[in-house]
Amino acid sequence: MAEYIRVASLAEVPEGELRGFELPAGRIAVAHVENELFALGDECTHEGCLLSEGEVDESADTVVCACHGSAFDLRTGEPVEGPAQDPVPTFPVRLIEGWIELVPVPAGGDA
Ligand code: FES
Repeated sequence: MAEYIRVASLAEVPEGELRGFELPAGRIAVAHVENELFALGDECTHEGCLLSEGEVDESADTVVCACHGSAFDLRTGEPVEGPAQDPVPTFPVRLIEGWIELVPVPAGGDA
């Protein structure tokens, strides 16, 4: 079974923001919204821009790509607004004693 790996301290991902991390399994973006953490693939499925350079929409629980405005659901990775049509992967993430840890294997097992 895949294991959690430590990627950052909570202080590195301030509330309402997201950060991208280069991991052996690829780039993963971590978002911090209303005391919840979300981890999703950092590459937009439209034309590959980094979602970590976009913005979190806290009212919609989405991350909005900075390039052409695609919005992805933080929980499911599904696009809720185009032009992107395909979802980004999501990853299990947790907070342990102030450290953000995630499993760098997509939650649905669908790589
Ligand atoms: S690359 Fe993200 S919306 Fe186009």
